[in-house]
Amino acid sequence: MNDKLDANGTCVLVTGGAGFIGSHTVVCLLEQGKEVVIVDDLSNANEKALDRIAQIVGEEAAERITFVRADVNDRAALDAIFEEFDIDSVIHFAGYKAVGESVEKPIEYYSNNIGNTLTLVDAMRDHGCKKLIFSSSATVYGDPDALPLTEESPKKMCTNPYGWTKWMIEEILRSVAFADPEWDIVLLRYFNPIGAHPSGLIGEDPKGIPNNLLPYVSQVAVGRREAVHVFGNDYDTPDGTGVRDYIHVMDLAAGHVAALNWMSDKSGCEVFNLGTGTGTSVLQIINAFSEACGHEVPYVIEPRRPGDVSANYADCSKAAELLGWKAQYNVADMCRDSWNWQSHNPNGFEG
Ligand code: UFG
Repeated sequence: MNDKLDANGTCVLVTGGAGFIGSHTVVCLLEQGKEVVIVDDLSNANEKALDRIAQIVGEEAAERITFVRADVNDRAALDAIFEEFDIDSVIHFAGYKAVGESVEKPIEYYSNNIGNTLTLVDAMRDHGCKKLIFSSSATVYGDPDALPLTEESPKKMCTNPYGWTKWMIEEILRSVAFADPEWDIVLLRYFNPIGAHPSGLIGEDPKGIPNNLLPYVSQVAVGRREAVHVFGNDYDTPDGTGVRDYIHVMDLAAGHVAALNWMSDKSGCEVFNLGTGTGTSVLQIINAFSEACGHEVPYVIEPRRPGDVSANYADCSKAAELLGWKAQYNVADMCRDSWNWQSHNPNGFEG
């Protein structure tokens, strides 16, 4: 048993808790009085994020964090965690997430993302912990027939192995919940998470050249890269550039806490979109970021990127109705907080 667990708190295991969305969610969980065990192998995260989390939440709350450096596929490490701590629920973020890399390394992506989920649910079952939130993605909607996307919109073909891992893990978890009604599973389909904690102490710190728009824009803004490559300006959108539903990572983190609070005593598998409901184009993002950082962010128009859809944005009314959750931040807030993080940490956690 975990001797640090107070009578009112519950203990949440967060896989990938040192990563971008994980670290922000850990802050929210600690602020809610929860005990948190982070399991992360730091393959795509920085240990310094843990010190920063502690700085944000303060000494007392930081005592409720335990960090275990391990791969989620390491069954013995998971068993040791479940034996030592009275884990009430699990939030599963850990996984490879670079779309382009997944095309180059399909075996690694399928093996790691699907393998670690199977190891995790097997360990959970054996230790009698059957409450799970999974990080899914709007990528499962593929190229949508109609917008906005509701949870009833069909899942469609993915364009890369990363997307398929999310698609398949959703189905695996549905089967798990179907087979045993003791399971209580929530699939959260994220749209495009950006922004950073308003303190500027934690944020997105991709290794190598960023694949995603916002980290690329912010690295151009801070002078690490020359210009943003805008992938296509001939889409059927108002300015021809791709449209996405960008969501502040703090809103996303709050969505996990809302889902966790909603789940108690439920059974089955529910899916929720987490977005804002508003579509924003690439050029609108570059303009909003230029406003936030106080100078023009240079860009060049390039051909379309293979596998990109022209537009997607969410209908989030299900999360509003059932979870009582709604995104609070707009794109200007997201760019302000991304810039605050990037300008104070031009090289990410390394300085
Ligand atoms: N884009 C650029 N230049 C860049 C990077 C992106 O113009 O350097 C454009 C893309 O073409 C797209 C938009 O910016 O129109 C957003 O691209 P991102 O790569 O930031 O995000 P995606 O929508 O492609 O992918 C994101 C997540 C995936 C997730 C998917 C779900 O990265 O993990 O949303 O829709 F699967």
